[in-house]
Amino acid sequence: MVLLRVKLAEGEVVMQEWFKEAKLGIFIHYGIYAVDGVAESWSFYNGRMTYEAYMKQLDGFTASKFGADKWADLIERSGAKYAVLTTKHHDGVALWDTQYSDLNVVKKTPAKRDLVKEYAEAVTKRGIRLGMYYSLIDWSHPDYPTVYEGGKVPDDLSKVNKFSSPDGGIQDEERWNKFLQFNNNQLREILTNYGKVDLLWFDGDWERSAKQWNLPEFKQYLQSFNPDIIINSRLQGYGDYKTPEQGIPITRPEGPWEFCTTINSSWGYVPSDHKYKSLNQIIRMFCDCITLGGNMLLDIGPMEDGTIDKRQEEILLGLGEWIRTHEEAVFGTVEGILTRYYLGGSTVSKDRKTLYLFVYDDPKENVCLKGLSNPIKKITVLHSGKELTHEIHGGVPWFNIPGTTWIHMTAEDAHKQVTVIKLEFDEELDMYGGSGAVVTHN
Ligand code: GLC
Repeated sequence: MVLLRVKLAEGEVVMQEWFKEAKLGIFIHYGIYAVDGVAESWSFYNGRMTYEAYMKQLDGFTASKFGADKWADLIERSGAKYAVLTTKHHDGVALWDTQYSDLNVVKKTPAKRDLVKEYAEAVTKRGIRLGMYYSLIDWSHPDYPTVYEGGKVPDDLSKVNKFSSPDGGIQDEERWNKFLQFNNNQLREILTNYGKVDLLWFDGDWERSAKQWNLPEFKQYLQSFNPDIIINSRLQGYGDYKTPEQGIPITRPEGPWEFCTTINSSWGYVPSDHKYKSLNQIIRMFCDCITLGGNMLLDIGPMEDGTIDKRQEEILLGLGEWIRTHEEAVFGTVEGILTRYYLGGSTVSKDRKTLYLFVYDDPKENVCLKGLSNPIKKITVLHSGKELTHEIHGGVPWFNIPGTTWIHMTAEDAHKQVTVIKLEFDEELDMYGGSGAVVTHN
C-alpha cells in the first residue's frame, strides 16, 4: 500500500493515497427521518416536532425496496470511488444490529434488517472504498447529556438544550464515561463486523472538547482496528483531513480535504425540498473541488423504502457520464493552476506535462491563458478530440516573460456541460510568477 506523508496543522498524519486519488465520494443520509421527510435529528432537537413524534417514525421505516446492490451500482456509475453511509445520526438510531442499544432498525422498525451489513457487502464487492458516518453525539442516549460543552456549567441554564446538556446544573462524569464506553463498543462493532472499513466520518464533535472525547486515546483506539483507516476532521483537531460543508472553499484548505454537499438543500430525504442544483452546477462544483486539490462528497437522501429520488439519481448518472468522458482530466491528476492565470478550473497530469482547462461557459472566440512559459505541443478538445489552434501575443523573450496564449475556440466546440481543453507540453508545466514559478493556490 502506498502511503503519503502529509503535514497538517494539527500535527503530522499518514494519509492514504487512495483518498487523494478518489476525487468523488457519495454520502448517504438514510434513516427514520425519511418516513415523515423531516430534517435528520435536528427536527426534534430544534423543537420543530416532539421527540415522541420523531421516534414514531420507527414504526414506518420499512426499507422494503432497499437493495444495496442498486445503491452500489449507482455509486459506481456516478464515478465515485468511495461511499459514506450514516450508520447512526444524532438521533441515536443505528442502522445495524448493535448489541449495545435496542434503538436500531433491526429491533425497532419493520425493516428488521442489518442495513450496514448489506451496504458494506455491496460496496466492498465493487471495489468502492467503504466509509461509515458515525455521530459522536447521541441525543437519545440517557448518559449523553450528563456533562456540559467544554465541561463548564453555563451561566444561563435556561438556554441549555436537554438533549445535549444536563439541565439541573450537575455534571456526572461517571455516566459520561459510560457513554464514551458505549461509543467505543458501537464503533468496535462497525470496525470489526463488516470487513475492512476505509474511512470513518465523524460528526457532532462540537458539543464536547477534545479532552471530553478522550482524545488522542480515542483515535488510537480506532486505529487499533485498522491502522490504515482515514478519519475526517470532525474530531476536535485530531482528524486526518478537512471537511468544508455546503460552501466551496475560496482558498485552498491546507492538506487533504473533502467538500461535502447536498444536491438540494437537505441531507436526508425531504420531499418538500425542491431546491435542486442542476447537473451543470454539480459538475462545475466538482471541477472547482478538484481544481483546488480536494474531493467532493456528494450527498443523496434515500426515501424510507430505500429507493432514491429520480432527480438525485439523474444527477449521479449525469455526473458519472461527464466524468467518464473526461476521465483523464479527473483521475491521475493533481490540483490546477491559479485562477489569475486562467479564469476557470483546471487540473494537471501527474507528470506535469499536460494541463486540462475546464471551460464553464461558451467562449465567443478565444479561451485566454496567461503566464504559460512552455511551448505548446498540441491542444485538443477532450470530448471530441478536435485540435484547436492558438496564437500568442505579447511577451518579452529576453526577460523570459511569456505572452498571452489565446486558444481559438467557439461555442460549437463546447461540451453541453463543462468542456475540457487539453494542452500538451514536452517539458513540465512552467507558469510564470514574476519572481519565479507560482503553481500553488495559497
Ligand atoms: C451537518 C448537519 C448534519 C449532517 C452533516 C453532514 O453537520 O448538522 O445533520 O449530517 O452536516 O455533513
